[in-house]
Amino acid sequence: MSAKLLYDKRGAVLFEKICEQPEYYPTDTELDILRTCADEISAVIGPAARVVEPGSGEGIKTKLLLSKLSDPRVFVPLDISRAQLEDAAHHLNESFPDLRVQPICADFHDEFDLPPDEGVRKTSVFFPGSTIGNMEPDEARDLLRRFAAFCRPDGGILIGVDLEKPPAIVEPAYDDDAGVSAAFALNVLQRLNRELDGDFDPDQFRYEAPYDSEHHRIEMGLVSRVDQTVHVAGEAFDLRAGEKIITEYSYKFTLERFADLARSAGLRVSHVWCDPKRYFSVQYLTPVTRGAAG
Ligand code: TRP
Repeated sequence: MSAKLLYDKRGAVLFEKICEQPEYYPTDTELDILRTCADEISAVIGPAARVVEPGSGEGIKTKLLLSKLSDPRVFVPLDISRAQLEDAAHHLNESFPDLRVQPICADFHDEFDLPPDEGVRKTSVFFPGSTIGNMEPDEARDLLRRFAAFCRPDGGILIGVDLEKPPAIVEPAYDDDAGVSAAFALNVLQRLNRELDGDFDPDQFRYEAPYDSEHHRIEMGLVSRVDQTVHVAGEAFDLRAGEKIITEYSYKFTLERFADLARSAGLRVSHVWCDPKRYFSVQYLTPVTRGAAG
């Protein structure tokens, strides 16, 4: 299933709630890294910067980052939700009156252009939350390659990357005790019923999110409790008891594996910041100049 379907209005609310669950370590860990390493990050991004944030969402991390930068000039948030964009732009203008906010209503998986960048020293793309891990490797490489084009010649990508760790820590993050992750996944069935004339009975499915160590990813999905036939968008699907609809992946990386991915997209890892437990990393990737060795 396309993971994008998860984010209807209720899905977006549930998603914000997942990030607040005690088991969900990535948000707090990433915020801590951004706070602790702010001086270095700010030095790397440089003064008078333009920051582009694909899938900008609620904006706590954005505010934190912008507040640590030296005289940021332009912020370009990108989101599929116009309401969310307008909200974010409004709040940012209050906190950063000198910042030019140029929202773009678009899906970052599609092609989009940035407005002209007069007066800007360099452009950095901010892509936190390990959203890169929700893409399959080919897709991730293509996306990074497109982002790289925005930051040529001397900018970069500041990206959050979740690191590989024991299943006992990573699995609960995607299947919290309060059941928010499960509700988030099950919500998609209601959306399919409503928008694509589906006839799913959510009670006939159970949420599951095991870690697949061979593929280094959490595999979120809805397991059919019974043999059943479901209909959606005019098509019939037979599901056996135990068969699973995959709603989303969340890939985990070693530093080495992520560096390989970056390299395949024409980027090199110029900085890595981690928390003391090495649960999560924030990295700065820079485009490899064409023709340069390495
Ligand atoms: N990108 C984050 C992650 O993989 C957030 C996320 C996306 C998420 N989909 C999710 C978290 C579903 C929990 C459940 O961790």
